Amino acid sequence: MEQITTAEATGDRTDDMFSHSVVTGEAVLACQNVTKEFSVAGGKIVAVDDVSLQFPAGSVLAVVGESGSGKSTLARMLLRLMPVTSGSITYRDQDVTRLHGRQLRGYWREVQAVFQDPFASFNQFFTVGSLLRRSLHLTEVPKDEADDLIEQCLGYVDLTPDEAMGKFPHQLSGGQRQRVMIARALMMKPTVLLADEATSMLDATLRVNVLNVLHDLKHDLGLTVLFITHDIGQACYLADRVAVMEHGRVVERGTTEEVIFDPHGDYTKRLLSDVPDLKGSLKRSA
Ligand SMILES: Nc1ncnc2c1ncn2[C@@H]1O[C@H](COP(=O)(O)OP(=O)(O)OP(=O)(O)O)[C@@H](O)[C@H]1O
Ligand SMILES: [Mg+2]
Repeated sequence: MEQITTAEATGDRTDDMFSHSVVTGEAVLACQNVTKEFSVAGGKIVAVDDVSLQFPAGSVLAVVGESGSGKSTLARMLLRLMPVTSGSITYRDQDVTRLHGRQLRGYWREVQAVFQDPFASFNQFFTVGSLLRRSLHLTEVPKDEADDLIEQCLGYVDLTPDEAMGKFPHQLSGGQRQRVMIARALMMKPTVLLADEATSMLDATLRVNVLNVLHDLKHDLGLTVLFITHDIGQACYLADRVAVMEHGRVVERGTTEEVIFDPHGDYTKRLLSDVPDLKGSLKRSA
């Protein structure tokens, strides 16, 4: 396949800032036979059990499953926040489990994450402006370019500097706070954005708003998005492909349409039965 940039690959409104050299459609991130065991009183838990997944560049993969199915444990291993018990994780031909030093810091810049509770990630005494500027201290972005980059990234999540920069966290809505956290992640110019229950604490309207922002980031910037949720409705609204986890294992995988219209497993059918109008309200057009 021809080597093209993710930005070039995704249509009209692309941005040079994100023109990493990635072959669109090929797996930018992948895990192979990944298992995670935890030792607990009286034995061990297999939280993630022999999971193999691929994350094609410039697409959204949703990992969906009920509480305790192993989604966040998988995410933490992918983010190299936790070692694997066995298996391998590959990012652009690099063995993630063996990265260290400068390479690991580079990985942590290119694979950014947004979690459930944006409020917990804020220092309440800093304005959004100082939070974002402080994040850039860790990068090589020159000071005189920092505000332009911040403004650009706020724009990607539909916030103006006036709406956000001078505000303290409690002065923003939950959806605005989550969008600020996405903007902060984007400032690192990531290739992959991992969102673990990033919309779970939001009410329905704000949730759709953040889902649409994530959709647009894939479309406009060619970002690869890993969207983790317990809600198969949200997964199908946003994702190109869906993987369903149960008790640490991937029990179903396919395109969103395949999973909705032709689910194989009883577990997937049960999750789908909780969202009766899903077929009618299939995801927004790409
Ligand atoms: N550090 C740990 N030590 C022991 N057990 C753990 C640890 N972290 C997670 N677990 C267990 O691993 C299993 C999977 O947990 P995980 O947090 O990955 O699930 P999840 O799918 O993200 O759930 P939720 O939807 O509630 O966030 C659970 O049984 C959990 O109790
Ligand atoms: Mg979780």
